[in-house]
Amino acid sequence: MKIVSIIGARPQFIKLAPLSKKIRENFHEVIIHTGQHYNNNMSGLFFDHLDLPAADYNLGVGSASHGRQTASMLEGISDILLKESPAAVIVFGDTNSTLAGALAAAKLHIPVIHVEAGLRSFNRAMPEEINRVVVDHVSDYLFAPTETAVKNLKRENLADRAYLTGDIMVDALAGSLEHARARPSPLEALGAEPGHYYLLTLHRPSNVDDQGQAARLLSELSRLEERVIFPVHPRTMKMIENNSIKVAANISLIEPLGHLDFIVLQDQAMKIITDSGGIQKEAYLLGRPCITLRTETEWVETVEAGWNLLLDPNRPDLAGPIAAFEPTGKAPQYYGENVAEKMTEIIVTVLA
Ligand code: UD1
Repeated sequence: MKIVSIIGARPQFIKLAPLSKKIRENFHEVIIHTGQHYNNNMSGLFFDHLDLPAADYNLGVGSASHGRQTASMLEGISDILLKESPAAVIVFGDTNSTLAGALAAAKLHIPVIHVEAGLRSFNRAMPEEINRVVVDHVSDYLFAPTETAVKNLKRENLADRAYLTGDIMVDALAGSLEHARARPSPLEALGAEPGHYYLLTLHRPSNVDDQGQAARLLSELSRLEERVIFPVHPRTMKMIENNSIKVAANISLIEPLGHLDFIVLQDQAMKIITDSGGIQKEAYLLGRPCITLRTETEWVETVEAGWNLLLDPNRPDLAGPIAAFEPTGKAPQYYGENVAEKMTEIIVTVLA
């Protein structure tokens, strides 16, 4: 039986890696890469480091407006699905590649499996929130990572399609951590001391697409006393370069890193500052304090446990609360285990 997995952006390569291994024990898997992310350090490196099979198709859609990007994926994916005629399609997360994949399959009456279903920020200004809602409603099997996600699906009358599977990032991290720690440490090349730097990532349109906001955030973070290591997403780098935004000496701008090096930088960081969804959870699983520069999060458990501090990026003082943040209590295990196996068992059962 054939299954098509659809990926396109950096976090999806990470999520597919552990699931693909299990899927391939039971099905013939065909991988479609939309080409949403295309730089070697946003895509190619991930396939190498995660031991991910090469994509069978790469649509090479590249960057464009949301409408154009999603439309050209929809066209390309539909043609391939018509040709391959799979028993089901798997999509991951909340990107434009997820939306195009789910919609193309649903229109062809091919069952859609959504990994990371039921997450909500309740902020429709985020493109990802629109994608999540639409994808959940056109999908047939909703793999929810948390109890909160299941509750969100119930509220939208989607309970009969929901499965509490746990979070595939648990397996992704378990699969990479040992391997990551065994490699030469990226800290040496950076001249960084374990436990003596903040790790920063920023790429949300609300934080980086406005020149004033991006400049203000970087100026606030320059007030931190320890060094800040900042692997810069291409979207953010464009904003910094095109507007000659000043970056203070305590902030080290570096290229986006491969996943294994990035895990080590997270693991050894004093604290992590981010606006990414996936990184909030990786920080939690690694037991690192996380400060999220957003007003809401889909990963509410990490905040409730006291390990993730939500900071409104528009507030006047960011450096003070970041420096003062010290989680105290235990970090309960909310995200399950052996998730890829559980997901594959469900897929085998429902497609039988
Ligand atoms: C996308 C996802 C976001 C996810 C993020 C992970 C959507 C709506 N957003 O955001 O949910 O958290 O990926 O990184 O799907 N670029 C390059 N090279 C690349 C990739 C991107 O230069 O390899 C530049 C392009 O100029 C592009 C910009 O980055 O315009 C943004 O890329 P895009 O894929 O549209 O959105 P992301 O911000 O990466």
